[in-house]
Amino acid sequence: MEIQLWREILEPYALAVDEMLVKFNHIIEAYRKAGMYSPIEQVTGRVKTISSILEKAQKKGIKLEDLEKSIEDIAGIRIICQFVDDIFKVVDLIRNRTDMHIIGEKDYIRNKKESGYRSYHLIVRYNVETLHGTKEIHAEIQIRTLAMNFWATVEHSLQYKYKRNMPEKIRTRLHNAAEAIVVLDDEMSSVRGEIMDAQNSFNIKANIVSDILTNIQNLYKVANKNEVVKIQEEFFRIYETEDLNKLEQFNKDLDAISQGYRAQSLR
Ligand code: GTP
Ligand code: MG
Repeated sequence: MEIQLWREILEPYALAVDEMLVKFNHIIEAYRKAGMYSPIEQVTGRVKTISSILEKAQKKGIKLEDLEKSIEDIAGIRIICQFVDDIFKVVDLIRNRTDMHIIGEKDYIRNKKESGYRSYHLIVRYNVETLHGTKEIHAEIQIRTLAMNFWATVEHSLQYKYKRNMPEKIRTRLHNAAEAIVVLDDEMSSVRGEIMDAQNSFNIKANIVSDILTNIQNLYKVANKNEVVKIQEEFFRIYETEDLNKLEQFNKDLDAISQGYRAQSLR
């Protein structure tokens, strides 16, 4: 196939990956802005390279005209979570969306692969708008924890290094490492509540501080400069006490002061 033709075929997939990345990143942002824990830690995506599409087609005996139908991971999204429970939350979140329709599902977490690989895979239908109208494409979404991702990354590079001939010793090591990852994920789950509390109060604090700084900045434009400097000093003093309640109260007081100035300026 002509390279130009490949570009045309892959373009809608690139668009789908870009759009989905924007959407998943907004989910992370929405949770964090609301001061809530995000079940998605990070998201990456890629379009399969022409050479690896060809390699897969050859390996699976797929005809060139069937490529788009038969290769479901031309567009690939990888969602990384902190905890195993988050993975199932993300699956539900995707299940409830109207812009992605799940048409295939593989649970390699409850049923890990022979290699030791664990992840949750979804194949989704997704529409993109092109110059020639709406095009429906398939995308693979892999959802896994940070620990599972670490294992899969290392295993993948070893697979790549040894091709089909991975030494038995290394294979055994990888199996052991996979077991250790399961234990690690379990351990992390058991402290999940505490980790989440810590992250939550961190997010809440970050939001309050950002509100306060915006307030101070706005006040600086309208209020007596000496007053604002005093307010700022008061803020630092409270900030250093690390008392979230005091910080919250201070923010409310500032809000009231700002309201006062706004009311004055309307008069
Ligand atoms: P593919 O031909 O690889 O698509 O296999 P498949 O159609 O049977 O799908 P499967 O769900 O097994 O694998 C899809 C993708 O999951 C792969 O392209 C990899 O990215 C990942 N994957 C699956 N198995 C393994 C594994 O043993 N190790 C690693 N590192 N990744 C894996
Ligand atoms: Mg596949």
